[in-house]
Amino acid sequence: MSPTAKGLLLLCRPGFEKECTAEAESLARAGGISGFARTTADSGCVHYVFHELVDWKEALEAAPFDAFVFARQRSIWIERVADMPQEDRVTPLIEAIAAQEIQVGRLDVETADTNEAKSLSGFLKRFIPHIERTLKARRILRDKEELPTLHLLFKDSSQVDLGLSRLGDASPWPMGIARLRMPRNAPSRSTLKLAEAFDALMTEEERTQSLKPGLYAVDLGAAPGGWSFQFSERGMHVYAVDNGPLADSLVASGMVEHVRADGFSWRAPRKQVEWVVCDMVEQPARVAQLVSDWIASGKAKRCIFNLKLPMKKRFEELKKCRQVISSRFGLHGDHYVLRIRQLYHDREEVTAYLAKIPAPDSNKTAKLSRR
Ligand SMILES: C[S@@+](CC[C@H](N)C(=O)[O-])C[C@H]1O[C@@H](n2cnc3c(N)ncnc32)[C@H](O)[C@@H]1O
Repeated sequence: MSPTAKGLLLLCRPGFEKECTAEAESLARAGGISGFARTTADSGCVHYVFHELVDWKEALEAAPFDAFVFARQRSIWIERVADMPQEDRVTPLIEAIAAQEIQVGRLDVETADTNEAKSLSGFLKRFIPHIERTLKARRILRDKEELPTLHLLFKDSSQVDLGLSRLGDASPWPMGIARLRMPRNAPSRSTLKLAEAFDALMTEEERTQSLKPGLYAVDLGAAPGGWSFQFSERGMHVYAVDNGPLADSLVASGMVEHVRADGFSWRAPRKQVEWVVCDMVEQPARVAQLVSDWIASGKAKRCIFNLKLPMKKRFEELKKCRQVISSRFGLHGDHYVLRIRQLYHDREEVTAYLAKIPAPDSNKTAKLSRR
């Protein structure tokens, strides 16, 4: 028996529930599934509830993780276990999982990214090992990659939602939170944003091809240099374009040339560079136009850029940016890959990866290979 889906479990940055809901709605509708959202402002969590139960694999297909920008994590909601008694929470949870007649390859224990939910961490540290041991003993939790991941999304110590996902079709990080260590000597915390973008938005193959010594990168809006640092650390040459001051350590590395110029009009002295990245605080559509010019014209092979979203109509603004990019590539019938996500290190913004792809039949929604 295949589990049936009640809906989607979506985790997002608190404050972005509306955008997350809009995405779920549009994906579900396109997949022929109707439903409604249950969420509250700043909860960091959206339950998208289907009007009718559907097979969980159908739900998975309708709402693939890579299609979301604002969901940090998404799983297919199959059950809720509520009112777990304080004296014995293990038994009802195990019985509810067993009743699904599933085998799973991994457990992901989740809460929303709120202070209230974080206070559960002590309880979960004590509770989860019991669950894991029991699931293994009952041969529900097996060490097999191909089996789905079981998500346990805790609201509090008495209520948990069960979700399923497949490896490679969910965030590789629990709760979609990339905990990266701040590198020593990095000029700004922004460096983590680009580090996360490399991991979250690119395939292993793309990283191997494009992040290696000797290649050239252009960093538009570079100061103080956190993004340039990611390239120079890898032995790559960087044109760091910004009228603002760059960290001395970067310039001293000999890998970074500080160009005091306007990022919208400056052009690289090389015919083609591997990378252009852009973190300028500017109107999103203007940035989208600029970076699609760089990539569509072949001046750079690939791009990671940040779009600072307005407080209102963020979803619509993003749609506008997609249209700008699509029109620019449409001029010569070029094909491209565009992946956009609100990263853990993003605030009122999203980060995107853009590259031209040669083959007309290349898959525009190519799946990211996950770690
Ligand atoms: C968010 S900061 C960049 C932080 C940088 N990515 C880092 O990791 O340290 C934005 C930068 O964009 C620069 N900027 C804004 N408009 C620009 C323009 N038209 N041309 C060049 N730089 C610009 C600002 O001077 C500022 O230093």
